Amino acid sequence: MDRFIIEGGRPLEGRVRVSGAKNAALPIIASTILTGGTSVLMDVPRLRDVKTMGRLITNMGGTFEHSGNTLSVSTEGLSLFEAPYDLVRTMRASVLVLGPLTARYGTARVSLPGGCAIGARPINLHLMGLAKMGADITLEAGYVIARARRLRGAQIYFDIPTVTGTENLMMAAALASGTTRLENAACEPEVVDLGEALTRMGARISGLGTPVIEIEGVEELRPVEYRVIPDRIEAGTFIAAAGITGGRVRIENVIPDHLEAVIMKLQETGISISVDEEGILVEGPERPRSSDLKTLPYPGFPTDMQAQFMALLSVARGTSIIRETIFENRFMHVAELRRMGADISIEGSTATVRGVETLKGAPVMATDLRASASLVLAALRAEGRTQINRIYHIDRGYEEIEKKLRGLGALITREREEP
Ligand code: EPU
Repeated sequence: MDRFIIEGGRPLEGRVRVSGAKNAALPIIASTILTGGTSVLMDVPRLRDVKTMGRLITNMGGTFEHSGNTLSVSTEGLSLFEAPYDLVRTMRASVLVLGPLTARYGTARVSLPGGCAIGARPINLHLMGLAKMGADITLEAGYVIARARRLRGAQIYFDIPTVTGTENLMMAAALASGTTRLENAACEPEVVDLGEALTRMGARISGLGTPVIEIEGVEELRPVEYRVIPDRIEAGTFIAAAGITGGRVRIENVIPDHLEAVIMKLQETGISISVDEEGILVEGPERPRSSDLKTLPYPGFPTDMQAQFMALLSVARGTSIIRETIFENRFMHVAELRRMGADISIEGSTATVRGVETLKGAPVMATDLRASASLVLAALRAEGRTQINRIYHIDRGYEEIEKKLRGLGALITREREEP
């Protein structure tokens, strides 16, 4: 297992280009199951999760070629309609093949994801929606089995807006007979990007980016060429990195509209952020100011930026209150930040962050993807040397992070952990 060694205390300076969005690429790759032929997807980040999605596709009998950031994926002649436990356990987003397989092949066998580091994360709403569309759903030996002659349009209300749930049902509905109406659907830009890709494939979708999405089913969909949107969470992480180190960084390949809440909250902490045609220019203050925060579904502040924001607030002047409302256990980074000298207490879903003047390097452990990013940020600011273990988590979602950070002047190296 690899680890990062970071020598902190250097302001980041320079330019960085954001990669394509992991959470848009994953459902778009899954959506190619709905078509025959070969689709070409551009700006697909080279990440562990994308590789896992590739293994799912090849395991079913498709082909998957990732060259640079261009991905050719062919789902012609799939013969096994399954997402096995070994792949689902390393990536919950594997569940995204459930809707497309059921819609196109009338059968799917997908391992039920267990809980994970950030919460229980059930998929009951995905299953409820498919059942409403006429699928017969059973659970056998830890697998969800869905069967349907042809899915039919339905009215579906989500008790909670769910990102991958909305995506799964949008894909299923694209090939169903009749019209599906998704209410209280997720509005995240990644859901919209999947909808745009499906539309290019020939799907009929309206209401993307709003809580009510309507999909009129069609008989068939065709392969596409499609460019994935930039990763707003990676962009937000680099804004926070420039901010926490008091640096000056130009961030390219961003869609500022996708980052409104993040930009506004980060500005509240005293980070200067200006937007122009080339991207975003960030200048960090010597020391950030405190600010309160609540995570919410889009367009609210994303839970995927909560850990990074907490790292920033850990060195702020004053006390900040952070409420996590999306996942019940997404404070695993707190104990690690404390090892570096942060003063943070947790009660239920609320964290109280009393800003300290300095963090100190320490050995710490990454527990999930965004927690790892927050430890990297803290380490960049800290005095001395931080060793971050188990960074395989960060490789799931940040493309070439150490290369990008080195390009900005950070002292970061990757080491193999002794067995
Ligand atoms: N939920 C249910 N039942 C369901 C589905 C969801 O109760 O059937 C609950 C969840 O437990 C959670 C809430 O609804 O409390 C929202 O979860 P959602 O389904 O929206 O999360 P997700 O689709 O599993 C995606 C991203 C996550 C991101 C969340 C929230 C992908 C592949 N994953 O997960 O990304 O945190 O939306 O925005 O798109 C990450 O990239 O680090 C990451 C975890």
